Amino acid sequence: MAFGLVVLVSGTGSLLQALLEACTDPAFGCEVRAVGSDRDHIQALRRAEAAGVPTFVHPLPPGADRDAWDAGLAEQVARFDPDLVVSAGFMKLVGRHFLARFGGRMINTHPALLPAFPGMHGARDALAYGVKISGATVILVDEGVDTGQILAQAAVDVLDGDTVDSLHDRIKVEERRLLLETVHHLARAPQPATRSAHG
Ligand code: GRF
Repeated sequence: MAFGLVVLVSGTGSLLQALLEACTDPAFGCEVRAVGSDRDHIQALRRAEAAGVPTFVHPLPPGADRDAWDAGLAEQVARFDPDLVVSAGFMKLVGRHFLARFGGRMINTHPALLPAFPGMHGARDALAYGVKISGATVILVDEGVDTGQILAQAAVDVLDGDTVDSLHDRIKVEERRLLLETVHHLARAPQPATRSAHG
């Protein structure tokens, strides 16, 4: 039985696309069982449909009960019995219900070298700060905002004349590589990762 993934998305889906393509190789040892999003009409869902992967949309309307939304998302994901949940550009934070069920087996990619520049605009914030090197990070998701245990990182040079888009596009190349390496590693050794030195 292949290592089952549920991928959560909110946008273009280039990270998802890399996973979908990797899963066509049996040696990768994984299958995307479903793709979920907080919003419809995004390219990532079209990519899943094109690959014949089930999708679901779990919107969070303004003013809705966030705790109930979180519990509902956990239910939706649990239907597909994943070994690992992958946040690939998912722009909502999961909460206590979700983490009670999937904590320790949910990863997220971030387009900056955490702990620097957490949050929704990692590439933009790094560029605005003037760093010369940024990069990509894969973490285990915990209750914080991009505060989970770091599983993998890659450095990306910031070039003169970079725009947010040019820097982010270059980071996403590394992000895709890191994500595939991390998923492949977890598929082969799926014990929940233990916290390293910082506890
Ligand atoms: C990625 O850089 C991810 O880290 C960030 O948003 C981007 C999503 O890209 N949160 P895509 O939707 O997979 O193309």
